Amino acid sequence: MENSTRLRNMLRHVKHWFVVKTTPRKNRVYTQFYRFPHQYQALVERVIPELERSGKKSIRIVVFACCSGAEPISLSYILKKHFPQLRYEILAFDIVEDVIERARDPVYSHETVYQGPFVTQAFVEDTFDKVGDEYRVKPEIMQPIKFAVGNMLDLDFIASLGKADLVFAQNVLFHLPAADARRAFSYLNTLLTPESVLFINGMDMDMRVKMTKKFSLSPIDYLIEEIHNDARVDRGSGWAGAYWGRKPFSRRSREWMREHCTIYSKART
Ligand SMILES: C[S@@+](CC[C@H](N)C(=O)[O-])C[C@H]1O[C@@H](n2cnc3c(N)ncnc32)[C@H](O)[C@@H]1O
Repeated sequence: MENSTRLRNMLRHVKHWFVVKTTPRKNRVYTQFYRFPHQYQALVERVIPELERSGKKSIRIVVFACCSGAEPISLSYILKKHFPQLRYEILAFDIVEDVIERARDPVYSHETVYQGPFVTQAFVEDTFDKVGDEYRVKPEIMQPIKFAVGNMLDLDFIASLGKADLVFAQNVLFHLPAADARRAFSYLNTLLTPESVLFINGMDMDMRVKMTKKFSLSPIDYLIEEIHNDARVDRGSGWAGAYWGRKPFSRRSREWMREHCTIYSKART
């Protein structure tokens, strides 16, 4: 690499570090269907088979920051498609009442359904019934999901949930002030058993390194680069000027795996 390119890259990293440390955080109510294709692949090829091997007959899933439903609905589609015999329940929470109301009456416009860059025709056909111009989620995809208002910064509420096999809190921690994001992470950790898996796309990288080490979470070394690059389709353009921007993938850092990895296991891998 030329010296001038190296310097430019270094300056962009410094800029991003500064932006992350100084920009006020703001809640964003935004989501997409079928947003995490390589995470789904990791779920199907690695995470669920591991849970099944450990003897699990049914799986309990908690999704925080579910917004208007796209994430848990996409997840339910993946589980139904790849594990038709699997019993599972998805408890999906958000702090914004309106989006929970929206998710409970799951009829979406064409624009909403096709908004995400990874949405496939197979996903749409297997997930929705077309009603006029609108798309209603099929009853069998909705049935395992319960939507409710819930705050991941409320420890009593989290404690009331018991344990979960899979916990999702994606594209939310980086919208919280740092102290709240750290607190939320530590509360999420209380939901995990030694077999549980945490999905945590969308948090500050340095915080992810520190918090996953603090709570002895092991990165699942599977499709890390592909999952990272999925997120860059939306968020690559925000790097280095926005705190939510996703940097280009690199293995140069000693901590490259924890910086980039979005799926963690409580068990030692
Ligand atoms: C950018 S959206 C992400 C939606 C979805 N997880 C995804 O990745 O597509 C962030 C969501 O987190 C919700 N949220 C923010 N703070 C929260 C909290 N303390 N507890 C639960 N949800 C929260 C917001 O209301 C918003 O709907």
